[in-house]
Amino acid sequence: MSSVISMPPAASELAGHVDALLWSVTAITAGVAIAIIVLLVTFSIRYRRAAAVDRMMRDAAGEHRHWLEITWIGVPFLIFLGFFFWGARLYFSYESPPAESLQIYVVARQWMWKIEHASGAREINELHVPRGRPVKLVMTSQDVIHSFYVPAFRVKRDVVPGRFAALWFTATRSGEYHLLCAEYCGTDHSRMGGRIVVMEPDAYARWLESRPHESSLASRGAAKFVTFGCSGCHVGSVVVHAPDLSHLYGRTIPLADGSFVRVDERYLRDSILLPSKEIAAGYADDMPSFAGRASEEDLLELIEYIKSLAPQPTVAGAGDSP
Ligand code: CUA
Repeated sequence: MSSVISMPPAASELAGHVDALLWSVTAITAGVAIAIIVLLVTFSIRYRRAAAVDRMMRDAAGEHRHWLEITWIGVPFLIFLGFFFWGARLYFSYESPPAESLQIYVVARQWMWKIEHASGAREINELHVPRGRPVKLVMTSQDVIHSFYVPAFRVKRDVVPGRFAALWFTATRSGEYHLLCAEYCGTDHSRMGGRIVVMEPDAYARWLESRPHESSLASRGAAKFVTFGCSGCHVGSVVVHAPDLSHLYGRTIPLADGSFVRVDERYLRDSILLPSKEIAAGYADDMPSFAGRASEEDLLELIEYIKSLAPQPTVAGAGDSP
């Protein structure tokens, strides 16, 4: 079907599901539309003014058929409810990246996509990923709103300055696919694109190894943890009572206001830039904000470092670890 009507190739696990849903909705609605047109034309001819036909339903004039009413209300209702649950299931899976995903950072700016792999390898307007493994992108923008769009994967997500947006996919076919910006972001918006290169897992591991990279994101973060002065309070300080950050990532921790929060990239980022927002229970609000001092890249490196202090979900294959 996709060759008849111009559709992008389907190259991710989600793509097959999205297409199946799209074509099912299209088929049902097209079927109903065709049935209405056929009946409209048939009745127009059969019951035209000059036609000598019985215009009363012979055996049903005045009779109320409950089963008929229930059927024509109930059947469409159940069909559309089915579509709702089908779509909702897809949506929830699209919103829940598997824990063992390979994580890659994306920083958008006018007008390019900057990619940071955990190994420290960088790319611009190109993203290499292994086939058959979930990949989670943690994305942010340095300036305006952009939108990360890969038609072949059927994924799109706005990338907003000041916060992280996550998007995940599992590529199913190796090859090259379009990467586009789908949010008008200024003069060169239409040229803010690139390509996604899906490689076999071993080829990907070799590619990652061959990329020039001096040190991993986490080890650069470890250095910045010292230069920004984080270590002064967070590592064995007797003067300042600051939380120990090891074994923190991935846990759910209590906050001073009685609520709980899961320590993920979003929480770590906000804790660095807006430290008063969510105070860990048992600690005082005395950390200074690093907004304006830490760049987006500093943040990614610091977060990767703090993540590296906690046990990582391990996955066989694909060499993503530094
Ligand atoms: Cu970035 Cu449009």
